[in-house]
Amino acid sequence: MLYIVANFKSHKTGDEARAWLEEIKNLDKTENKTIIICPSYTLLPVFKEFIDKYNLPIKLGAQNVSQFDEGPFTGEENAKQVKEFAEFVLIGHSERRANFNEDENILRQKCDMAIKYDITPIFLVQSESDSIPEGVSVVAYEPLFAIGSGHPDTPENADLVASSLKTQDKYEIIYGGSVTAENVKSFTSKENINGVLVGGASLNAQEFIKIVQNA
Ligand code: PGA
Repeated sequence: MLYIVANFKSHKTGDEARAWLEEIKNLDKTENKTIIICPSYTLLPVFKEFIDKYNLPIKLGAQNVSQFDEGPFTGEENAKQVKEFAEFVLIGHSERRANFNEDENILRQKCDMAIKYDITPIFLVQSESDSIPEGVSVVAYEPLFAIGSGHPDTPENADLVASSLKTQDKYEIIYGGSVTAENVKSFTSKENINGVLVGGASLNAQEFIKIVQNA
């Protein structure tokens, strides 16, 4: 099973998301590929409604989850709320570690919350030496230099890192960082890589369809 994960980051309004979905709606059923779209919280209901209506082979992921359970935490979305829409959640993205001071302790709490409410964390690391919280089963390797740069890691090195992560536990390993329709197969064809996490290239529906087809 291959994971094709789209990380929209802080992009798209409701109308823009609906236009993207209209283009993606005729995507052929994909055997052995799990497509997971991670849009902003505001778009999760838009996506859910559309996916249900057209019975699309797409699962939803959130880009974040609170480390707190429900309660007096203004501005936070807790895992019980997220679970209404999403089966997955990205935790540990380098942009959150860097811009929102999410340290190992917070990331572990977030994973615990996700797992408590039966959401699968997709835990992001920048190298094989980053610590991975207990209970995580899906890990995304995203080297900092490759994110949004147009300079992906080599498939050979990504495979090496994936294999070393797999010796730590029975993780599924996804590669992320400048994945495109042109290079996706070079990663997904590697023995230890179980999918890709796509940022910038996922925002364009036609490009994303090609990524799914080529993976
Ligand atoms: P990119 O982003 O595909 O634009 O490099 C990947 C990510 O940060 O998840």
